[in-house]
Amino acid sequence: KKVQYDIKTNRVQIDLGIGRKQRAHVYNDHGLDETEQFLPASDAKKLQKKRISFRAMVAIGLPTALAIIALVTGLLVWHFHYRYNGRVRKLFSGYLTISSQTFSDAYENSNTTEYKELASKVSKQVRLSCFLLHYNFFPFSEGSNNGIIAYYLSEFNVPESQVSAVDEAMASLDGVGNARKNTFLTFRYLYLRLVLNLCCLLGSVKRSHHAHGNQTDIIRSPGFPDSAYLPNLYTEWQIRADPEHRIRLEFDVLDLEKDCRNDFIKVYDSLAPSEKQVIAEKCGYRLPGEKLIFISSGNVMLVTLVTNEEKNFPGFRAFYSQIPAKIQDCGGRLTGLRGTFTSPGYPSHYPPQTDCVWDIEVPSGKHIKVKFDKLSIHNPEQNAISCPEDYLEINYRICGEKPPKTVYTIKSNQATVRFHSDLSYVSEGFSAEFEALEPTNPCPGRFQCDSDLCVPPNLQCDGYNDCGDMSDERGCTCNETQIKCMNGFCKPSFWRCDGVNDCGDNTDEENCGNCKAQEFRCRNSRCIPAQKQCNGYNDCGDGSDESQCEKSIAVHCSALTHKCKNNQCISKLNPMCDGETDCADGSDEAECKCGMKPYKSSRIVGGKDSNDGEWPWQVSLHMKTQGHVCGASVISNRWLVTAAHCVQDNEKFNYSQPDQWEVYLGLLNQGETSKSTLKHVKRIVSHPLYDHLSYDNDITLMELDSPVNLSQNIWPVCLPEATHDFPAGKSVWITGWGKLREEVDAIASVLQKAEVRIINNTVCSKLMDNGITPRMICAGVLSGGVDACQGDSGGPMTSTESNGRMFLAGVVSWGDGCGRRNRPGIYTRVTEYRSWIREMTGV
Ligand code: ARG
Repeated sequence: KKVQYDIKTNRVQIDLGIGRKQRAHVYNDHGLDETEQFLPASDAKKLQKKRISFRAMVAIGLPTALAIIALVTGLLVWHFHYRYNGRVRKLFSGYLTISSQTFSDAYENSNTTEYKELASKVSKQVRLSCFLLHYNFFPFSEGSNNGIIAYYLSEFNVPESQVSAVDEAMASLDGVGNARKNTFLTFRYLYLRLVLNLCCLLGSVKRSHHAHGNQTDIIRSPGFPDSAYLPNLYTEWQIRADPEHRIRLEFDVLDLEKDCRNDFIKVYDSLAPSEKQVIAEKCGYRLPGEKLIFISSGNVMLVTLVTNEEKNFPGFRAFYSQIPAKIQDCGGRLTGLRGTFTSPGYPSHYPPQTDCVWDIEVPSGKHIKVKFDKLSIHNPEQNAISCPEDYLEINYRICGEKPPKTVYTIKSNQATVRFHSDLSYVSEGFSAEFEALEPTNPCPGRFQCDSDLCVPPNLQCDGYNDCGDMSDERGCTCNETQIKCMNGFCKPSFWRCDGVNDCGDNTDEENCGNCKAQEFRCRNSRCIPAQKQCNGYNDCGDGSDESQCEKSIAVHCSALTHKCKNNQCISKLNPMCDGETDCADGSDEAECKCGMKPYKSSRIVGGKDSNDGEWPWQVSLHMKTQGHVCGASVISNRWLVTAAHCVQDNEKFNYSQPDQWEVYLGLLNQGETSKSTLKHVKRIVSHPLYDHLSYDNDITLMELDSPVNLSQNIWPVCLPEATHDFPAGKSVWITGWGKLREEVDAIASVLQKAEVRIINNTVCSKLMDNGITPRMICAGVLSGGVDACQGDSGGPMTSTESNGRMFLAGVVSWGDGCGRRNRPGIYTRVTEYRSWIREMTGV
């Protein structure tokens, strides 16, 4: 919503949102229409003048302007007289073009006389309403053909009782309806807050930047990275580039409060904070691996940071540079049997105001299949069917977020694909692959899913949903290594009775114990009628029928119940640090610094690179002469947990000697140890019952020579109580720098992470030739390919518990090869050592 004084056409236009089309047109020329002049068309002589006459403009523009303003003010004054309850300041933004004035660098700096002169002239032009207080700033930018674009933000003083009426009137006049309700509210919130806090704060912190050549420069929130941002800020960064260029802005850190109503940044495709040209609003964390890059449509961009009084976070850092506008050219002719195309700028967010057309042609007689690895074309509140704002058009318009590997088939050898983005809100776009297909044999040598996706034939009927729509798992005949589910699916036999409903109809979990249907199986193996669960009585005797209920009850202590510090026992399963006080003495929530990742989310085989700070408890243990040897986990500022087999001497090395070790904390890349924190070992406490033949009790504590400073990158993991349950089937994470494959020697340079599932000990023992003791816990992906490996030992297997905290469920211990089919990884079961750890370390 804005009041736009469109001096260019010698009209003062109160633009209540209806000017969308016209603005779209103007902005397609980077906000400047070169053919139009600043002067009245009636005066042909003046048209030739180099410098514009502001007086002439006023002469013509003013009467029209006053008429319209008078109308609006009349309306407001009328209300004002009837119900006066004070006034509210309202902000409107707009821009005007000065095509016959030549731009110079001096206009970018608000301290120059040139700037001041032009600003005062422009401000005289637009200071028309009696409600208008002032124009807060006038960032100028260079338009094409040397002209100038003046962006402004004006502040009006509106009677409070009129605010909602005025807003509503504006919304109803808005051609696009109420599509931006939320942002509009935020915007209103912003100025209300500014008025409350400091009337003239707005514009007081503004920075002006110009991208030069192919240089990259930085903008960052005030105080970043040394301190958190301040409360009640409005800071803006105006970024300009040379004509015929765009601005590329890449966020490297974004760490704001989660609630966008409190703290947020906005990126505008303009120099004025115009709500029509917001291309992104962001708050919360950006996962460090997630790309967040914006490209402007023209040569300007504005970034604003707004914060409120509470909760201040580290803030953001972003890099900007200019790129030739042409680089973003998109579309074209695509021929041949296969090829790829992406949204402009991919994997950056696509720029606003962009149209691309691809003409695809494959040999005649063939059809076209387009597969999307990524397809994300969001525009908030955009209708997902008609997709009026941003879309991709193949057979019809597509928008929103589609799952990876979405396939569209075109029954012709030619297709036209169109992409369109409007003025505001951009998203990541798409990456597509087209392929010519034989209409009679669309998936040669592969299985064709219902979605037209082709998958390798051996994935059919393997128990995994490889097509994404289950079509590869229907109508299967199960083989001898599979269970037949009642609903017809086949699942690997190892999934039987693992606590997870893999069939979907529970067939794989029936008849696992001795309990009948309609009975609940207690953790102590007793059977009770199912309706006795959560009835407030300890029917099982071990509290397990009351352990996952809304309310925890006090029960007799047993090996399976949680004991509070006051020695009372409660029925709740895993109550430690779950965010709710369950013990009467509060001891279950008393020491809960551990296990939080600073970033929200969220030698390994089959894993992925981790992000900086994603696993802040992960430690790399180096031997002075050999580099990385084992992993470990931080459990306090002085203590680490690792595997006992990591500190066993052999003929060559004295692994048991504390002075042989170097401890790297907060490390991500083995090549960057200098950036991490190095500590030495004071003491090594191996478990007295460690058995080097069976690997039973494979656990060791290491004391650091001096306490480490805890930070975003170095943070303790939570230790599970002895009664903590990590059920079979639960997903857990393993992390480490160990080997990426069994057959190669090289270890990973970037910390790897992989997700595996806990496997029930009985099942695991069968798979591992009875080598599993109750002090071990197995986890893996039984189809193979995902596992820990040499060099991961001692490192963590972590489980995310109810409130997002991560607990150390296991310590990487041993395995048979790495990632082999039906050979899970074996971990030390940390719950077994809770009291030993407490006794040795006080943690
Ligand atoms: N013992 C190995 C080490 O020293 C870890 C083996 C883990 N193996 C496995 N397949 N999960 O690094």
